[in-house]
Amino acid sequence: MRKLRTQRAIAVLASVLLVGGVAACGNSDTGGGGSKDDGKITMGFSQVGAESGWRTANTTSIKESAAAAGIDLKFDDAQQKQENQIKAIRNYIQQKVDVIAFSPVVESGWDTVLKEAKDAGIPVILTDRSVDSADKSLYKTFLGSDFVKEGRLAGEWLVEQKKGATGPVNIVELQGNTGAAPANDRKKGFGEAIAANPNLKIIASQPGDFTRAGGKQVMEQFLKANPKIDVLFAHNDDMGLGALEAITAAGKVPGKDITIITVDAVKDGMQALADGKFNFIAECSPLLGPQLMDLAKKVHAGEEVPARIETEETTFTQEQAKEALPNRKY
Ligand code: AHR
Repeated sequence: MRKLRTQRAIAVLASVLLVGGVAACGNSDTGGGGSKDDGKITMGFSQVGAESGWRTANTTSIKESAAAAGIDLKFDDAQQKQENQIKAIRNYIQQKVDVIAFSPVVESGWDTVLKEAKDAGIPVILTDRSVDSADKSLYKTFLGSDFVKEGRLAGEWLVEQKKGATGPVNIVELQGNTGAAPANDRKKGFGEAIAANPNLKIIASQPGDFTRAGGKQVMEQFLKANPKIDVLFAHNDDMGLGALEAITAAGKVPGKDITIITVDAVKDGMQALADGKFNFIAECSPLLGPQLMDLAKKVHAGEEVPARIETEETTFTQEQAKEALPNRKY
C-alpha cells in the first residue's frame, strides 16, 4: 500500500515537472495552467522573437488587439528558435487553448506538431509567415504579406532607376534569416525583377538575420571584399540601418554612393528614407493584430475563412516618406 502511494506521488510530481518544463521554453508569459472556462476565447501565440522594429510593432499589435477583442492571450517569444516554437505549441495543446496562432521562424519542419494540434481539435492560424507543408488542412488560414511581391516591387524600382546604365551595376544583398519565408521570397521576387536588365548583377548575398547588428557586420565584409558596390538590397529596414553605419565608417555616403533599398517601412527606416540615406522601401505591415483576432473568433465559431488573406501594402520613395512620416503608427 505504502509502495503504491509512493509510486502515485512520483507520477504526480513527474507530470508537474513535465508541464513546468514545457512552459519554461522561450520567453513566455503563457501563465501556465489550462484554458479557463470563463467564456473567453483563449489564444496561444508563438512569436518569432524581437529581432527588428517590425517584430516589436507586430507583438504590440497582437497584444493590444487581443485585449481589445476580449481574447485571453498566452504569448511566447521563441527567441529565433524553431524548437522553442514547437515546445510552445505543444504546451498550448496540453493547455487545451481554443486557437493557436504563430509566425513560423522558418518555413519547413512543422508537419508533426501541426498534426498534433489538428488531432487535438485545435485550429491553427498562420500569421505573418507561412509554412511549406503540403497538407493545407493542417492550418485554417494564412494572414500576411506577399513577400515575393515585396521583393519584386523593390527590383522593379531599381530596374527603372538604372534603365540608362551602360555598364555593370553591382548589387549586394542582405538576406533575412536562412530558411525564413520572407528571406526566400524577397530574394526570389527581387531576382526575377532585376533579370529584366542584364547590367544588374548581385555580386554578394548573405544572411544578416533581420537584425541591425547582422546588417552592420555583413555589410562591413561586403565593403572589404568588393571595391565597387552600387546598390544594397536589404530584406528589412533594420539590416539596412545597421549597414548605414558600416557604409559611413567606410567613408561612403549612403543613399548617394550606394543606393539603398529595404523592406518594412518602420519609423526608423522611413526616417532614413526621408533623410536621403535610404532610396526606396517596399512596405510590409506588422499591424496584423485586429485581423488575427477577428479570424480567431470566426474559426472558434466554426465559420469558414479564406485560406489566404493578404495584407494591403504600398511602396515609398524619399518624397513619399517625408509626407507619410508624421502619421506613421510604428
Ligand atoms: O516576417 C516579417 C519580417 O520579419 C520583417 O520584414 C522583418 O523585419 C522581420 O524580422
